[in-house]
Amino acid sequence: MSTDASTVQHAGAPIIDVRGLWTQFGDHIVHRGVDLQVRTGEVLSLVGGSGSGKTTLMRQILGLETPLRGEVSVFGIPLHGSPAATLKKIRKRWGVLFQEGALYSALSVFDNIALPLRELRAFDEDFIRDMVLLKLDMVDIERRHARKMPSDLSGGMIKRVALARALVLEPELVFLDEPTAGLDPDRSESFVTLIASLQRQLQLTVVMVTHDLDTIVSLSDRIAVLADQKMLALGPLAEVVRVDHAFVRNFFLGERGVRALAAAATPIDITGLQRPAPPSPHTSIE
Ligand SMILES: Nc1ncnc2c1ncn2[C@@H]1O[C@H](COP(=O)(O)OP(=O)(O)O)[C@@H](O)[C@H]1O
Ligand SMILES: [Mg+2]
Repeated sequence: MSTDASTVQHAGAPIIDVRGLWTQFGDHIVHRGVDLQVRTGEVLSLVGGSGSGKTTLMRQILGLETPLRGEVSVFGIPLHGSPAATLKKIRKRWGVLFQEGALYSALSVFDNIALPLRELRAFDEDFIRDMVLLKLDMVDIERRHARKMPSDLSGGMIKRVALARALVLEPELVFLDEPTAGLDPDRSESFVTLIASLQRQLQLTVVMVTHDLDTIVSLSDRIAVLADQKMLALGPLAEVVRVDHAFVRNFFLGERGVRALAAAATPIDITGLQRPAPPSPHTSIE
């Protein structure tokens, strides 16, 4: 069987397979045997408290960090220990929307989106132009904005351009780190609608780190919960909200969570579940 990065992928095999992952910084253990399997074509939301190791896990799946122990395979190919040429091919098959520094401030909208294509040094400028304009259309940005600089764009437009850049190599797999953070509710909702429609159209697998409950409820097929250095739960929302753990109760069954769950396309039944105690009147409001 070929081990070429463009062919290895068995039917029914997870697109991402994380097994027994340990992460330690000094004497601080972040992950203590974390497992995660992501299915082809699903939207998986990764949630967990601040410092629970969500970003670190995502960076390990992207091959940007190496775990102390454990294995990460993407498209059926082990990341750690594969030759550099294989990793380079794998990287072309995913797109990433980072939370911070979504765009290069010194490059125009056009040049930001063109960057991953130009880096491959395989395409002429006519082709690059066609691809960039196509991706601008895809994220609903008018072509007249192509020459603008990131500093001339609204937060919502920056996210859309960053999404266009993440999609420019036509990936099968997309990673989104806090895609709606910093957007007002209207922009956030329209960005979520855009992600949902692209995910269906392009049959993308999406791995998303977010703490935005409305985004989680409207996009996710399954939720992965990191807590106590483990993968506490991995399943559909209706199952995950029933996990008896303080993080789950506080996150999903607080006031905002309950509101989001009730607004789900298929409302999630939470009858009989213990809710977190309401904040005391002395607690200051965030
Ligand atoms: N390079 C690093 N060196 C030392 N500690 C780190 C490093 N990266 C992350 N950490 C620590 O690991 C923990 C998990 O971080 P992170 O993955 O960013 O959490 P999350 O994204 O869930 O908020 C945090 O306590 C963080 O301070
Ligand atoms: Mg983080």
